[in-house]
Amino acid sequence: MSDGRAMRVGVLTGGGDCPGLNAVIRAVVRVGISRFGQTHVGLLRGWRGLLEQQSRPLGADDVAGIVYIGGTILRSSRTNPFKAADGPARVLGGFRALGLDALVAIGGEDTLGVANRLHGEHGLPCVGVPKTIDNDLSATDYTFGFSTAVQIATDAIDRLHTTAESHDRVMVVEVMGRHAGWIALHSGLAGNADMILIPEVPTTVDDVIAAIESRRARGRDFAIVVVSEGFELALGEEAAGERDVDEFGHAQLAKIGVGQRLADELGRRTGLDTRATVLGHVQRGGTPNADDRILATRFGTRAAELVAEGRFGRMVALQGDDIVDVPLADAVGELKLVPLERYALAVPFFG
Ligand code: F6P
Repeated sequence: MSDGRAMRVGVLTGGGDCPGLNAVIRAVVRVGISRFGQTHVGLLRGWRGLLEQQSRPLGADDVAGIVYIGGTILRSSRTNPFKAADGPARVLGGFRALGLDALVAIGGEDTLGVANRLHGEHGLPCVGVPKTIDNDLSATDYTFGFSTAVQIATDAIDRLHTTAESHDRVMVVEVMGRHAGWIALHSGLAGNADMILIPEVPTTVDDVIAAIESRRARGRDFAIVVVSEGFELALGEEAAGERDVDEFGHAQLAKIGVGQRLADELGRRTGLDTRATVLGHVQRGGTPNADDRILATRFGTRAAELVAEGRFGRMVALQGDDIVDVPLADAVGELKLVPLERYALAVPFFG
């Protein structure tokens, strides 16, 4: 600070929680204190913390012993200040009232989209850290939380294999991934799935049945089918039902259950014994794996550096094995979907 005062940095976590958030918070605080003499304030429940001035102290002791704990000690919400009356003005008012000089926003496309607008349109000095188990944020090769979610899904698929084989069943496993099929593809590849359905690749029920039949022709009487929750199942009589929508306009897909509908259709058309398992929020909960803790720590460290350098409107990112920073706008423009050539890697293993 030009007046010699230590920078006071707000930290918030927005959107769906994700293993590794606490490791980022810890790194922002510990590195900010030890290298730059910064002080920190925890803003509670994402953007709501600034809208309603909900905060908590965030010193070195507050972040002790949290690197291995899932979720976020700052709580989270899907609050969108641009949907609240006088939202941006209230956020800026909260920022000033809390005596902040900078903000570290840890979130996915929605949280960082808000950060980008508040920075660009209202001059809020903020730095972004990309988070999502879905791994669908542009400008970064990976987000922390993804690796843990893939491992959880893979462990579940491994377990389903033995019970599927014992009963000659078709097991449909629905995993998270609202718009992008990264979790389905990676867990399906690692878990030896017989078919993987993701939002990016149109696949018919006939395709799934063909894979199951080809296995059966080889005497493999069970099958594992992995499907992303965001996969659009084309059934003539499909009735999606009521969809609750959040403040960013996203349908709460987990309530709709593509996995169950696919399992029902496969059972009806093949006569095989078919079951669905929806992994849901289990994929987001619990302890982050070592890779996610390390990526989160590297992101948090770079975020503290960007704040100290006064380089706002930037997001930390992983490119190759390097931590870099990119304009926030680059991260939120469009989602990073699974490229077709990556999906093609799995195809020879189907059926
Ligand atoms: O964005 C991460 C994510 O876990 C998606 O995979 C999923 O569709 C969504 O969040 C679920 O949101 P909620 O926790 O609000 O049900």
